[in-house]
Amino acid sequence: MMKPQITQLSHSTKTPFLLHKPFIHGDGNIASLPIISRHSFQKKKKNVRVGFIPTTNVNIKAVASTTENEKPTSVEAIVTVKLTVGGFLSNLGLDRGLDDIKHLLGKTLHLELVSSELDTRTGLEKETIKGYAQWTSKEEDEVKYESSFEIPEDFGEVGAILVENGHQEEMFFKDIILNGFPYGPLHINCNSWVHSKNDNPQKRVFFANKSYLPSKTPSGLRRLREEELKILRGNGQGEHKSFERVYDYDVYNDLGDPDTNEDLKRPVLGGKQYPYPRRCRTGRPRCDTDPLSEKRSSGSTYVPRDESFSEEKRLTFSAKAIYSVLHALVPSLETAIFDSELGFPNFTAIDSLFNEGVNLPPFENQKKGFLSTLLPRLVKAIANTGEDVLRFETTDTMDRDKFFWFRDEEFARQTLAGVNPYSIQLVTFVLIHHLVLSLSESAKNRIILVMCYISAASYIYISPKKLTKKMMKPQITQLSHSTKTPFLLHKPFIHGDGNIASLPIISRHSFQKKKKNVRVGFIPTTNVNIKAVASTTENEKPTSVEAIVTVKLTVGGFLSNLGLDRGLDDIKHLLGKTLHLELVSSELDTRTGLEKETIKGYAQWTSKEEDEVKYESSFEIPEDFGEVGAILVENGHQEEMFFKDIILNGFPYGPLHINCNSWVHSKNDNPQKRVFFANKSYLPSKTPSGLRRLREEELKILRGNGQGEHKSFERVYDYDVYNDLGDPDTNEDLKRPVLGGKQYPYPRRCRTGRPRCDTDPLSEKRSSGSTYVPRDESFSEEKRLTFSAKAIYSVLHALVPSLETAIFDSELGFPNFTAIDSLFNEGVNLPPFENQKKGFLSTLLPRLVKAIANTGEDVLRFETTDTMDRDKFFWFRDEEFARQTLAGVNPYSIQLVTEWPLKSKLDPKIYGPPESAITTELIDREIKGLMTVKEAINQKKLFILDYHDLFLPYVSKVREIKGTTLYGSRTLFFLTPEGTLRPLAIELTRPPMDGKPQWKQVFMPCWNATGVWQWRIAKAHVLAHDSGVHQLVNHWLRTHAAMEPYVIATNRQLSVVHPIYRLLHPHFRYTMDINALARQILINGGGIIESSFSPGEYSMELSSVAYDQQWQFNLQALPADLINRGMAVEDPTAPHGLKLTIEDYPFANDGLVLWDTIKEWVSDYVNYYYPNPSLIESDQELQAWWTEIRTVGHADKKDEPWWPILKTPKDLIEIITTIAWVASGHHATVNFGQYSYTGYFPNRPTIARTNMPIEDPSEESWNNFLRKPESVLLECFPTKIQATRMMAVMDILSNHSPDEEYLGDLVESAWDENLYIKGVFERFKGRLTKLEEIIDERNANKNLMNRSGAGIVPYELLKPSSPPGVTGKGVPYSISI
Ligand SMILES: [Fe+2]
Repeated sequence: MMKPQITQLSHSTKTPFLLHKPFIHGDGNIASLPIISRHSFQKKKKNVRVGFIPTTNVNIKAVASTTENEKPTSVEAIVTVKLTVGGFLSNLGLDRGLDDIKHLLGKTLHLELVSSELDTRTGLEKETIKGYAQWTSKEEDEVKYESSFEIPEDFGEVGAILVENGHQEEMFFKDIILNGFPYGPLHINCNSWVHSKNDNPQKRVFFANKSYLPSKTPSGLRRLREEELKILRGNGQGEHKSFERVYDYDVYNDLGDPDTNEDLKRPVLGGKQYPYPRRCRTGRPRCDTDPLSEKRSSGSTYVPRDESFSEEKRLTFSAKAIYSVLHALVPSLETAIFDSELGFPNFTAIDSLFNEGVNLPPFENQKKGFLSTLLPRLVKAIANTGEDVLRFETTDTMDRDKFFWFRDEEFARQTLAGVNPYSIQLVTFVLIHHLVLSLSESAKNRIILVMCYISAASYIYISPKKLTKKMMKPQITQLSHSTKTPFLLHKPFIHGDGNIASLPIISRHSFQKKKKNVRVGFIPTTNVNIKAVASTTENEKPTSVEAIVTVKLTVGGFLSNLGLDRGLDDIKHLLGKTLHLELVSSELDTRTGLEKETIKGYAQWTSKEEDEVKYESSFEIPEDFGEVGAILVENGHQEEMFFKDIILNGFPYGPLHINCNSWVHSKNDNPQKRVFFANKSYLPSKTPSGLRRLREEELKILRGNGQGEHKSFERVYDYDVYNDLGDPDTNEDLKRPVLGGKQYPYPRRCRTGRPRCDTDPLSEKRSSGSTYVPRDESFSEEKRLTFSAKAIYSVLHALVPSLETAIFDSELGFPNFTAIDSLFNEGVNLPPFENQKKGFLSTLLPRLVKAIANTGEDVLRFETTDTMDRDKFFWFRDEEFARQTLAGVNPYSIQLVTEWPLKSKLDPKIYGPPESAITTELIDREIKGLMTVKEAINQKKLFILDYHDLFLPYVSKVREIKGTTLYGSRTLFFLTPEGTLRPLAIELTRPPMDGKPQWKQVFMPCWNATGVWQWRIAKAHVLAHDSGVHQLVNHWLRTHAAMEPYVIATNRQLSVVHPIYRLLHPHFRYTMDINALARQILINGGGIIESSFSPGEYSMELSSVAYDQQWQFNLQALPADLINRGMAVEDPTAPHGLKLTIEDYPFANDGLVLWDTIKEWVSDYVNYYYPNPSLIESDQELQAWWTEIRTVGHADKKDEPWWPILKTPKDLIEIITTIAWVASGHHATVNFGQYSYTGYFPNRPTIARTNMPIEDPSEESWNNFLRKPESVLLECFPTKIQATRMMAVMDILSNHSPDEEYLGDLVESAWDENLYIKGVFERFKGRLTKLEEIIDERNANKNLMNRSGAGIVPYELLKPSSPPGVTGKGVPYSISI
């Protein structure tokens, strides 16, 4: 290490040193370290070296060891200097320090060795031994300087070295080693900056490494020790320079910056007013505007030189990174996010800091990627552009559990083991709490809502509109075309049998003149029994009548909608004698007692307006013809036509309306004429004589003969079992049991008459195209509705398969919650659909599928739900989980616990011990302080979702299916004093299976993380159970499936002119068609339900079990349902005659108003047509109808004792109200909130795919759960394809079509024409409007915490009206989606 050129041995000099220059700038004092000169050089003195004698005593003394060697000792000093960088941001020449050093070979580093001893002769300090050190080598980041010294033998121990740095720059001394002493080298550790003598001529002292108490300081060092401290103390004056080493105190008077901005003035911390520890004094001048505050530093703030962060080269990219962040990144970020007040719009935006990050603008004059080079952990260079993006590393806390910040027990845990465990403390005083309100007081203070209804007498009579002559086109001159011929139908109507269905009209040759012209009108009376009476005129002439037929333009099958005007084209070309009309008299010929001859004529196409075409015809009606009661139609076109209505103008008492809204077949398909009755309603016994036969014959046609496969144009309503769900001919695995019958009882569906399967004679072949429903039951094909009502077809037929192509791995789950969020943000790219062009799906389903701007390709991007919009974490919260049992999409399952302990009714031999593991002790502990379990049962405070006995028998079967699992479950809730539900416990049970015994476990909300996550996963299981019961039982079975027999029976047994038919008809709109579609694609084997719900292929079997065990017609009435579940008791003094067990049960409260509203309307209507109770029993159509519902439509329940007997108007009112309620209120309740509550599927997963981590865990699986419980939850949740498919279906099912018909919205023509019915309908309508107000008021009432509160979506599902779309409100008449 000693370079040969170093020969400075004789350069050692002995001179006193005296510091004349002031050390401290800013004052005139001289700080000096005077060394007393010593002129004589004492030879033959002993060479002294300080060593240590180890003792057990802590007071170790430095002692002199002497040798007999009298010669001076040659000593080599090696100074190690660290290469450092300058200010960080000027690091362009990292070797600058080195360059300087390289050029300094002269006498710039001067060293003086100081003896520890005083001169024994003079008692003064010995002269120092001096010499220059020279640069000898550089290694990595260190530079060595070396110097040689001759130390006289009597010099004594070297106790310190004085250094003078003659360089222009300060130097960082690592250490100085003196080699050559007989007892080894002397180390002097420095690690300190040595100023340039240009900055300060004062020499720098470094003491050797030994430590001394002041009193033990070697005599030669005492003065140096004291002087050095004086230097470090400074004199409390002036502003400190960066190279200084003065340590002094000041208050915090430098936080404000009043000179820059008055608003930045801050009080001084430190002092009486704001006591505070002192900080390091910098000595900066005071502010111009505030003498108490120190001016802000423009550059770096003074700290004593050795206190600043290391500037060693190798540390540049780590320890000093904080400078970069503060000086470079933060301003850059402020530029990137220019709106400083901008918060995060949502939690996904917070997530994006860890994913997409924040793009940073180029920093000052630096090139791209500057910040990412400096701060690789924080700032990443974008791959293709090289630009900087600030993207944070995820934290270990969020990696393990994304919701750690949300959980209460984690909040608490962090006070003990988080980043601030210093604040938690013991409470040592006692606070005495008082409950402000007892339960009874709280109940007393509740506001009782008073409902006002429009008075019964206040309906308004509106006169029928009179058609003007304007509407009659002059070119219609077909007057003389009227002919009178009998008509007899020879061609069979029903295909597949040889019977002839005919409507024979007996010919009548004589034309009776001078008969009175008869017209039926109404005399309003105060009596509800308003009769139709004949008014007569003396006009003896025939009446000229103009018939206007309105035909709707329609489109063909939706997916073939390429020629939208096809129907019109056909019509345009048909100007000939193609539409034949015959007017039928209501009367029989009084002479012959036979039917009168019809009056015939052809109608011709006269005009087209928007989507309607008019046909017109003129008739001469003889004066003795009597009232026109029906019209027979023959459609000579090639295509079927949709008749909207027929209006006959020209009668002296105004026009006659015949409402059709029906398809009329082409005579090519079926030569049988079609009958349309006038709008009046008649009980069978009141049917005008001239119409009786027609009425009966028409019903026969509608009933069909039970034979053959039905054609799409037919109108036959018949029954069948659900034998069309499986598809065994395609795949053996798709064989499904027949639902309907002894083994699997089920309501009946519409018969299609398709042939049986080749491989299974019990199953019907699947339909390759659309499934038969009677022609008028199919969805509207009006042109303007093409893109709305029929959207479901698009989703099911086009979107779902497309999605399955896009997400090809059907078992893929979501890797994290951000991936779930991305369904609402980025979405899922869809492949082009079949042979359609780009953007096909986005045109069809604009709400669900968006076209990508630049490519035009389709992306499935979901709308966020209103629930997540209001509160992204709604799904995670326990009290929301409980609230949704009362006001969510399935408020039909919660029930009162009436028996304790909980016990299964299943066979213990098969399913294991029946006793619940939810014991009295567990629950007592949970509700301790409020009441005991016994008191809770007595006071009706415990409620349950009981999915134990329904699911347990299916557990072992379901667990054989790949990708799913099942438990029986019980979830217990406690009604809190404030009227909300609190979940107490979830019990999951597995029966004995695979040689293992029964397994059951109770999970409870708790205060440790492992328990909380098990609770959360148990909740996912219960939610999957609840989703299954909601969809398979409370939605599909109880509304869709149960309704279909009512639709069929009503059409088969009640004539269209029967008042009850007219009352029920709006409640049946499109139900058969949506059900047919469901059988085709939702509930079928391998269909959407089976592939997305926990029970898999057993889903529909479970629906059948629920029908078998639970379904009762009488319990479908809302009040009966509530009583049955213990949610209400009868109480004549309470509103609606019921007292609710949970006062704020939003579904029940709104539902009961709606139930009563429907019931009142039905009562008014029924009582009008059945003024005499005996009329019910004598109404053959009505009795046949009810019998058929009970014994055919619900044949598997025909012997049940609970069927209501139909004897009185009261019976009929209850039956009709029940049917109307199920079609409207019940269905709306469970249907239109589906997207709100299931669109963000973690709130209601349809399937739980994995077992609880605690059930037979392997060490690995349990450790996985502990390491990252969120992943275990995500694995339990639906797969990507299950989730997205259900989300798309739920979106469509929650949608109101633009042609939706809401309760009370439009009046049926037949109701409109009867003044009394019109009046009571108006009252019905008024009450429905009032219900909207009531619901708004309730949602605004902050006391009703189950429907109102922070982040809660108001309960509006029973608000009758709604705009189109996914609105979470609106009660349509019927089940159409
Ligand atoms: Fe539905």
